[in-house]
Amino acid sequence: MKYTTLGRTGLKVSVFGLGGGGHSRLGKSQDKTEAESVAIVRQALDADVNFIDTAEGYGTEEIVGKAIAGVKRDAVVLSTKKSTDEITPNAVRTSLDASLKRLGTDYIDVYHLHGVAPDDYERLLNDIVPTFEQLRQQGKIRFIGITERFGSDTKHTMLQRALQDNVWDVMMVGFNFLNQSARERVFAATIQQNIGVLVMFAVRRALSDPQRLRDTLSQLIGSGLVDPADLDADEPLKFLQTDSPNLTDAAYRFCIDEPGTHVILSGTGSPDHLRENLEAFTRPPLSPATNQRLKHIFQRVDTISGQ
Ligand SMILES: NC(=O)c1ccc[n+]([C@@H]2O[C@H](COP(=O)([O-])OP(=O)(O)OC[C@H]3O[C@@H](n4cnc5c(N)ncnc54)[C@H](OP(=O)(O)O)[C@@H]3O)[C@@H](O)[C@H]2O)c1
Repeated sequence: MKYTTLGRTGLKVSVFGLGGGGHSRLGKSQDKTEAESVAIVRQALDADVNFIDTAEGYGTEEIVGKAIAGVKRDAVVLSTKKSTDEITPNAVRTSLDASLKRLGTDYIDVYHLHGVAPDDYERLLNDIVPTFEQLRQQGKIRFIGITERFGSDTKHTMLQRALQDNVWDVMMVGFNFLNQSARERVFAATIQQNIGVLVMFAVRRALSDPQRLRDTLSQLIGSGLVDPADLDADEPLKFLQTDSPNLTDAAYRFCIDEPGTHVILSGTGSPDHLRENLEAFTRPPLSPATNQRLKHIFQRVDTISGQ
Protein backbone atom coordinates (compact mmCIF):
# COMPACT_ATOMS: atom_id res chain seq x y z
CA MET A 1 0.00 0.00 0.00
CA LYS A 2 1.25 3.47 -0.87
CA TYR A 3 0.99 6.14 1.83
CA THR A 4 1.19 9.90 1.71
CA THR A 5 0.81 12.91 4.01
CA LEU A 6 -2.62 14.51 3.93
CA GLY A 7 -1.46 18.10 3.44
CA ARG A 8 -1.20 20.29 6.52
CA THR A 9 -2.96 17.75 8.74
CA GLY A 10 0.29 15.78 8.77
CA LEU A 11 -1.79 12.58 8.89
CA LYS A 12 -0.11 9.57 7.25
CA VAL A 13 -2.79 8.12 5.01
CA SER A 14 -3.10 5.33 2.46
CA VAL A 15 -3.56 6.67 -1.07
CA PHE A 16 -6.46 4.23 -1.40
CA GLY A 17 -9.33 5.55 0.70
CA LEU A 18 -12.36 3.36 1.31
CA GLY A 19 -15.56 5.26 0.49
CA GLY A 20 -18.58 4.45 2.62
CA GLY A 21 -21.04 6.39 0.45
CA GLY A 22 -21.66 6.77 -3.28
CA HIS A 23 -24.03 4.42 -5.07
CA SER A 24 -22.86 1.34 -3.17
CA ARG A 25 -22.57 2.48 0.47
CA LEU A 26 -20.37 -0.55 1.25
CA GLY A 27 -23.09 -2.77 -0.20
CA LYS A 28 -25.96 -1.27 1.82
CA SER A 29 -27.59 0.04 -1.37
CA GLN A 30 -27.29 -3.43 -2.92
CA ASP A 31 -29.06 -5.22 -0.07
CA LYS A 32 -25.89 -6.82 1.26
CA THR A 33 -26.10 -7.95 4.87
CA GLU A 34 -24.42 -5.93 7.57
CA ALA A 35 -21.86 -8.73 7.99
CA GLU A 36 -20.99 -8.51 4.27
CA SER A 37 -20.54 -4.73 4.52
CA VAL A 38 -18.38 -5.09 7.63
CA ALA A 39 -16.32 -7.67 5.70
CA ILE A 40 -15.67 -5.10 2.93
CA VAL A 41 -14.17 -2.70 5.47
CA ARG A 42 -12.10 -5.49 7.03
CA GLN A 43 -10.87 -6.56 3.59
CA ALA A 44 -9.62 -3.02 3.02
CA LEU A 45 -7.98 -2.89 6.47
CA ASP A 46 -6.29 -6.24 5.81
CA ALA A 47 -4.81 -4.69 2.66
CA ASP A 48 -3.35 -1.91 4.86
CA VAL A 49 -5.86 0.76 3.86
CA ASN A 50 -6.01 3.16 6.81
CA PHE A 51 -8.31 5.89 5.44
CA ILE A 52 -12.07 5.36 5.71
CA ASP A 53 -14.69 7.90 4.69
CA THR A 54 -18.30 7.80 5.83
CA ALA A 55 -21.06 10.27 6.76
CA GLU A 56 -24.08 10.49 9.03
CA GLY A 57 -26.15 10.61 5.83
CA TYR A 58 -24.84 7.31 4.41
CA GLY A 59 -26.02 5.04 7.18
CA THR A 60 -22.61 3.32 7.17
CA GLU A 61 -20.97 4.76 10.29
CA GLU A 62 -22.17 1.83 12.36
CA ILE A 63 -20.72 -0.62 9.82
CA VAL A 64 -17.36 1.15 9.99
CA GLY A 65 -17.57 1.20 13.80
CA LYS A 66 -18.10 -2.57 13.92
CA ALA A 67 -15.29 -3.22 11.45
CA ILE A 68 -12.72 -1.18 13.38
CA ALA A 69 -13.80 -2.34 16.83
CA GLY A 70 -10.72 -4.52 17.30
CA VAL A 71 -8.28 -2.13 15.65
CA LYS A 72 -6.00 0.28 17.50
CA ARG A 73 -7.61 3.71 17.16
CA ASP A 74 -4.51 5.40 15.78
CA ALA A 75 -4.16 2.72 13.07
CA VAL A 76 -7.11 4.23 11.18
CA VAL A 77 -7.92 7.72 9.94
CA LEU A 78 -11.65 8.34 10.16
CA SER A 79 -13.42 10.89 7.99
CA THR A 80 -17.11 11.60 8.49
CA LYS A 81 -19.51 14.40 7.66
CA LYS A 82 -22.36 16.53 8.93
CA SER A 83 -25.25 17.01 6.52
CA THR A 84 -25.94 20.70 5.97
CA ASP A 85 -29.74 20.74 5.61
CA GLU A 86 -31.39 22.51 8.55
CA ILE A 87 -28.08 22.63 10.36
CA THR A 88 -27.66 24.60 13.59
CA PRO A 89 -24.79 24.73 16.12
CA ASN A 90 -26.79 22.53 18.51
CA ALA A 91 -27.60 20.04 15.76
CA VAL A 92 -23.88 19.78 14.97
CA ARG A 93 -23.01 18.96 18.60
CA THR A 94 -25.76 16.34 18.85
CA SER A 95 -24.92 14.82 15.46
CA LEU A 96 -21.24 14.61 16.21
CA ASP A 97 -21.92 12.78 19.49
CA ALA A 98 -24.14 10.33 17.60
CA SER A 99 -21.44 9.81 14.93
CA LEU A 100 -18.83 9.17 17.63
CA LYS A 101 -21.11 6.61 19.24
CA ARG A 102 -21.84 4.80 15.96
CA LEU A 103 -18.15 4.76 15.09
CA GLY A 104 -17.21 3.60 18.59
CA THR A 105 -14.61 6.31 19.11
CA ASP A 106 -14.10 9.53 21.03
CA TYR A 107 -12.63 11.59 18.19
CA ILE A 108 -12.98 12.04 14.42
CA ASP A 109 -9.83 12.71 12.41
CA VAL A 110 -11.51 14.76 9.66
CA TYR A 111 -15.01 16.17 10.19
CA HIS A 112 -16.57 17.76 7.10
CA LEU A 113 -19.47 19.90 6.13
CA HIS A 114 -21.14 17.56 3.64
CA GLY A 115 -22.09 18.49 0.09
CA VAL A 116 -22.05 22.27 0.45
CA ALA A 117 -23.99 24.12 -2.26
CA PRO A 118 -22.41 27.38 -3.52
CA ASP A 119 -25.22 29.61 -2.24
CA ASP A 120 -25.10 28.01 1.20
CA TYR A 121 -21.41 28.57 1.80
CA GLU A 122 -21.46 31.99 3.52
CA ARG A 123 -24.14 30.94 5.98
CA LEU A 124 -22.24 27.79 6.95
CA LEU A 125 -18.97 29.68 7.27
CA ASN A 126 -20.49 32.27 9.60
CA ASP A 127 -22.97 30.17 11.58
CA ILE A 128 -21.45 26.69 11.77
CA VAL A 129 -17.68 26.83 11.39
CA PRO A 130 -17.24 28.44 14.86
CA THR A 131 -18.92 25.36 16.35
CA PHE A 132 -16.56 23.08 14.42
CA GLU A 133 -13.66 25.11 15.88
CA GLN A 134 -15.03 24.67 19.43
CA LEU A 135 -15.37 20.92 18.88
CA ARG A 136 -11.80 20.85 17.68
CA GLN A 137 -10.67 22.62 20.86
CA GLN A 138 -12.60 20.02 22.90
CA GLY A 139 -10.64 17.27 21.12
CA LYS A 140 -13.70 15.69 19.50
CA ILE A 141 -12.43 16.46 16.00
CA ARG A 142 -8.86 16.90 14.82
CA PHE A 143 -9.25 18.58 11.42
CA ILE A 144 -11.97 20.43 9.54
CA GLY A 145 -13.04 19.52 6.03
CA ILE A 146 -15.54 20.51 3.38
CA THR A 147 -17.02 18.49 0.51
CA GLU A 148 -18.55 19.86 -2.65
CA ARG A 149 -21.83 18.94 -4.37
CA PHE A 150 -20.07 17.77 -7.53
CA GLY A 151 -23.16 16.22 -9.17
CA SER A 152 -24.52 19.75 -9.73
CA ASP A 153 -21.50 21.98 -8.98
CA THR A 154 -19.37 20.50 -11.76
CA LYS A 155 -17.33 23.71 -12.13
CA HIS A 156 -16.24 23.80 -8.43
CA THR A 157 -17.89 27.14 -7.72
CA MET A 158 -18.23 26.47 -3.98
CA LEU A 159 -14.65 25.25 -3.47
CA GLN A 160 -13.26 28.23 -5.37
CA ARG A 161 -15.01 30.45 -2.83
CA ALA A 162 -13.88 28.28 0.12
CA LEU A 163 -10.26 28.53 -1.00
CA GLN A 164 -10.33 32.22 -0.01
CA ASP A 165 -10.76 31.35 3.69
CA ASN A 166 -7.97 29.89 5.77
CA VAL A 167 -10.33 27.48 7.51
CA TRP A 168 -10.25 24.17 5.69
CA ASP A 169 -7.60 21.56 6.41
CA VAL A 170 -9.08 19.09 3.94
CA MET A 171 -11.26 19.33 0.83
CA MET A 172 -13.15 16.53 -0.89
CA VAL A 173 -13.09 17.26 -4.60
CA GLY A 174 -14.85 15.73 -7.61
CA PHE A 175 -12.23 14.71 -10.16
CA ASN A 176 -11.95 12.07 -12.86
CA PHE A 177 -10.51 11.90 -16.35
CA LEU A 178 -13.82 13.04 -17.86
CA ASN A 179 -13.92 16.30 -15.86
CA GLN A 180 -10.42 17.45 -14.97
CA SER A 181 -11.39 21.06 -14.24
CA ALA A 182 -10.30 20.77 -10.59
CA ARG A 183 -6.69 20.82 -11.78
CA GLU A 184 -6.66 24.56 -12.38
CA ARG A 185 -9.62 25.64 -10.30
CA VAL A 186 -8.87 23.76 -7.06
CA PHE A 187 -5.58 21.85 -7.00
CA ALA A 188 -3.44 24.84 -8.02
CA ALA A 189 -4.55 26.56 -4.79
CA THR A 190 -4.70 23.50 -2.50
CA ILE A 191 -1.07 22.76 -3.39
CA GLN A 192 -0.07 26.33 -2.46
CA GLN A 193 -2.07 26.24 0.79
CA ASN A 194 -1.04 22.66 1.63
CA ILE A 195 -4.68 21.57 1.99
CA GLY A 196 -5.32 17.82 2.11
CA VAL A 197 -7.24 16.61 -0.97
CA LEU A 198 -9.57 13.63 -1.08
CA VAL A 199 -10.78 12.72 -4.58
CA MET A 200 -14.34 11.51 -5.08
CA PHE A 201 -16.07 10.42 -8.32
CA ALA A 202 -12.85 8.84 -9.70
CA VAL A 203 -15.01 6.12 -11.29
CA ARG A 204 -18.61 6.59 -10.25
CA ARG A 205 -21.07 5.38 -12.94
CA ALA A 206 -19.69 6.75 -16.20
CA LEU A 207 -16.37 4.95 -15.70
CA SER A 208 -17.73 1.69 -14.33
CA ASP A 209 -20.55 1.05 -16.80
CA PRO A 210 -19.63 0.86 -20.55
CA GLN A 211 -23.12 1.91 -21.72
CA ARG A 212 -23.10 4.89 -19.39
CA LEU A 213 -19.69 5.84 -20.76
CA ARG A 214 -20.98 5.71 -24.35
CA ASP A 215 -23.96 7.90 -23.40
CA THR A 216 -21.70 10.38 -21.60
CA LEU A 217 -19.28 10.59 -24.53
CA SER A 218 -22.18 11.15 -26.98
CA GLN A 219 -23.40 13.97 -24.74
CA LEU A 220 -19.94 15.56 -24.65
CA ILE A 221 -19.53 15.26 -28.43
CA GLY A 222 -23.05 16.67 -28.92
CA SER A 223 -22.21 19.71 -26.80
CA GLY A 224 -18.98 20.30 -28.71
CA LEU A 225 -16.70 19.68 -25.72
CA VAL A 226 -15.08 16.53 -27.09
CA ASP A 227 -13.84 16.12 -30.66
CA PRO A 228 -15.07 12.77 -32.09
CA ALA A 229 -11.91 12.62 -34.20
CA ASP A 230 -9.98 12.00 -30.94
CA LEU A 231 -11.94 8.81 -30.21
CA ASP A 232 -12.02 5.37 -31.80
CA ALA A 233 -15.39 4.98 -33.57
CA ASP A 234 -16.05 1.38 -32.39
CA GLU A 235 -14.47 1.50 -28.98
CA PRO A 236 -13.98 5.14 -28.00
CA LEU A 237 -11.20 4.73 -25.40
CA LYS A 238 -9.55 1.65 -26.88
CA PHE A 239 -6.08 3.18 -26.47
CA LEU A 240 -6.37 2.67 -22.70
CA GLN A 241 -5.96 -1.07 -23.24
CA THR A 242 -2.27 -0.65 -24.03
CA ASP A 243 -1.68 0.43 -20.44
CA SER A 244 -4.46 -0.92 -18.34
CA PRO A 245 -6.52 -4.13 -17.92
CA ASN A 246 -9.84 -2.28 -17.64
CA LEU A 247 -11.55 1.09 -17.49
CA THR A 248 -11.85 1.36 -13.69
CA ASP A 249 -8.14 0.60 -13.32
CA ALA A 250 -7.24 3.39 -15.75
CA ALA A 251 -9.68 5.76 -14.03
CA TYR A 252 -8.19 5.28 -10.55
CA ARG A 253 -4.59 5.40 -11.80
CA PHE A 254 -5.26 8.64 -13.68
CA CYS A 255 -6.31 10.27 -10.38
CA ILE A 256 -3.42 8.84 -8.34
CA ASP A 257 -0.95 10.50 -10.73
CA GLU A 258 -2.53 13.92 -10.51
CA PRO A 259 -0.36 16.42 -8.59
CA GLY A 260 -2.15 17.76 -5.52
CA THR A 261 -4.31 14.69 -4.85
CA HIS A 262 -3.62 12.69 -1.68
CA VAL A 263 -6.34 10.08 -1.11
CA ILE A 264 -8.37 8.59 -3.96
CA LEU A 265 -11.68 7.34 -2.59
CA SER A 266 -13.03 4.08 -3.93
CA GLY A 267 -16.48 2.80 -3.07
CA THR A 268 -17.86 -0.69 -3.58
CA GLY A 269 -20.11 -3.35 -2.13
CA SER A 270 -18.29 -6.13 -3.94
CA PRO A 271 -15.28 -8.01 -2.53
CA ASP A 272 -14.14 -8.83 -6.08
CA HIS A 273 -14.27 -5.19 -7.16
CA LEU A 274 -12.41 -4.19 -4.01
CA ARG A 275 -9.67 -6.73 -4.77
CA GLU A 276 -9.41 -5.42 -8.36
CA ASN A 277 -9.32 -1.80 -7.20
CA LEU A 278 -6.65 -2.47 -4.60
CA GLU A 279 -4.57 -4.03 -7.37
CA ALA A 280 -4.98 -0.92 -9.54
CA PHE A 281 -3.31 1.08 -6.77
CA THR A 282 -0.24 -1.19 -6.89
CA ARG A 283 0.36 -0.60 -10.62
CA PRO A 284 2.74 2.02 -12.00
CA PRO A 285 1.42 5.32 -13.36
CA LEU A 286 -0.31 5.30 -16.75
CA SER A 287 2.24 5.96 -19.50
CA PRO A 288 2.91 9.65 -20.25
CA ALA A 289 1.37 9.15 -23.73
CA THR A 290 -1.91 7.77 -22.30
CA ASN A 291 -2.05 10.41 -19.58
CA GLN A 292 -1.47 13.20 -22.12
CA ARG A 293 -4.08 11.80 -24.49
CA LEU A 294 -6.73 11.75 -21.74
CA LYS A 295 -5.79 15.32 -20.82
CA HIS A 296 -6.09 16.40 -24.44
CA ILE A 297 -9.44 14.69 -25.19
CA PHE A 298 -11.24 16.02 -22.11
CA GLN A 299 -9.42 19.35 -21.64
CA ARG A 300 -12.52 21.53 -22.09
CA VAL A 301 -15.03 19.47 -20.07
CA ASP A 302 -16.48 21.02 -16.92
CA THR A 303 -20.18 20.29 -17.32
CA ILE A 304 -20.51 16.69 -16.17
CA SER A 305 -19.52 14.76 -13.04
CA GLY A 306 -19.66 11.22 -14.41
CA GLN A 307 -22.48 10.56 -11.95
N1 LIG B 1 -20.35 15.22 -1.62
C1 LIG B 1 -19.77 14.22 -0.99
O1 LIG B 1 -19.36 14.40 0.13
C2 LIG B 1 -19.57 12.88 -1.64
C3 LIG B 1 -20.26 12.58 -2.82
C4 LIG B 1 -19.96 11.37 -3.42
C5 LIG B 1 -19.04 10.49 -2.87
N2 LIG B 1 -18.41 10.79 -1.70
C6 LIG B 1 -17.43 9.88 -1.05
O2 LIG B 1 -16.56 9.44 -2.09
C7 LIG B 1 -16.55 8.02 -2.08
C8 LIG B 1 -16.18 7.52 -3.45
O3 LIG B 1 -17.25 7.76 -4.36
P1 LIG B 1 -17.96 6.52 -5.00
O4 LIG B 1 -18.42 5.59 -3.91
O5 LIG B 1 -18.93 6.99 -5.99
O6 LIG B 1 -16.70 5.78 -5.63
P2 LIG B 1 -16.13 5.44 -7.03
O7 LIG B 1 -15.00 4.56 -6.65
O8 LIG B 1 -15.87 6.63 -7.88
O9 LIG B 1 -17.28 4.62 -7.81
C9 LIG B 1 -17.86 3.54 -7.22
C10 LIG B 1 -18.87 2.91 -8.17
O10 LIG B 1 -18.20 2.15 -9.15
C11 LIG B 1 -18.52 0.77 -9.02
N3 LIG B 1 -17.23 0.04 -9.04
C12 LIG B 1 -16.22 0.16 -8.16
N4 LIG B 1 -15.20 -0.67 -8.49
C13 LIG B 1 -15.59 -1.31 -9.63
C14 LIG B 1 -14.96 -2.27 -10.44
N5 LIG B 1 -13.74 -2.74 -10.18
N6 LIG B 1 -15.65 -2.72 -11.52
C15 LIG B 1 -16.88 -2.23 -11.81
N7 LIG B 1 -17.53 -1.33 -11.07
C16 LIG B 1 -16.89 -0.86 -9.97
C17 LIG B 1 -19.18 0.61 -7.69
O11 LIG B 1 -20.19 -0.41 -7.76
P3 LIG B 1 -19.99 -1.84 -7.03
O12 LIG B 1 -20.50 -1.69 -5.64
O13 LIG B 1 -20.79 -2.77 -7.87
O14 LIG B 1 -18.51 -2.16 -7.07
C18 LIG B 1 -19.77 1.98 -7.41
O15 LIG B 1 -21.07 2.10 -7.90
C19 LIG B 1 -17.94 7.66 -1.57
O16 LIG B 1 -18.01 6.32 -1.14
C20 LIG B 1 -18.07 8.65 -0.45
O17 LIG B 1 -17.33 8.18 0.66
C21 LIG B 1 -18.65 12.00 -1.09
